[in-house]
Amino acid sequence: MSYIKSAALEETGFVILDRYDQAADPEEWNDLEYVDWKSSGDTRFAPLASAKGEIEVNGFWNHEPPRTDKNGVWIPSQVERAPRLTARAQEPGTNIGRCRVIELQPNSYSDTLYNLHQDDNNRLNPDGSGWIVRGFFNLTDDGESFLTLREDRFNPATEIRIALPAGSQVIVDTQRFWHAVWHKGPQPRYSLITSWESGPALDAYIAKHNGSSEHENAFLDPVVIDEAQAGVHRRLAERSAVIAGQGRAETVPFDD
Ligand SMILES: [Fe+2]
Repeated sequence: MSYIKSAALEETGFVILDRYDQAADPEEWNDLEYVDWKSSGDTRFAPLASAKGEIEVNGFWNHEPPRTDKNGVWIPSQVERAPRLTARAQEPGTNIGRCRVIELQPNSYSDTLYNLHQDDNNRLNPDGSGWIVRGFFNLTDDGESFLTLREDRFNPATEIRIALPAGSQVIVDTQRFWHAVWHKGPQPRYSLITSWESGPALDAYIAKHNGSSEHENAFLDPVVIDEAQAGVHRRLAERSAVIAGQGRAETVPFDD
């Protein structure tokens, strides 16, 4: 057996949908309740659906009983404040796990490379069911910021940088890609992130919104890339030294 995956994501691991008219909607993300939660960068989260319908954002596998990133429980007080965001997350009609708005403070390209991680969405997901991928809807207008993906964590040649203007909609296999957002600021960035189960419903949604993997990176000076990459190797070496000094084991970063 193997997982059911979307053909649209098979080759490239991501798909960009038509841009949504974000400006026509109220800024519901400003009305939500946020919790402090450190994830690649200086972040807070406002869950719409969580493991048990509480305002917390831990991975479902960290709850009792542990389970995979499906069957998220909608949080009435949050859904009430963000009916449009909820409807957009539900539009594909596929199973939803975690659904939340992330708030990310501005960072640097070097921070982004340091923050690269893979998600663990498919932990405990039974073989034969739909592979869990994630939708990223940018809510604020961050056209100079980039969802940064790498197939190989340390190889800049594999890097994909997708710009994040308001209304940009991208679906990513975040367990396949190392990823993080380079947010230039100056204001925080808000994005709706939803865990969706792959299958015919998600495929139909991708087709309806003209999903495409065609993409060209905006130019980024190779000198900037090299310097940031060297900085990351330095920071990681320093981190390893601290961890070794404490007698702890090194862990690979992933999103929990
Ligand atoms: Fe992630």
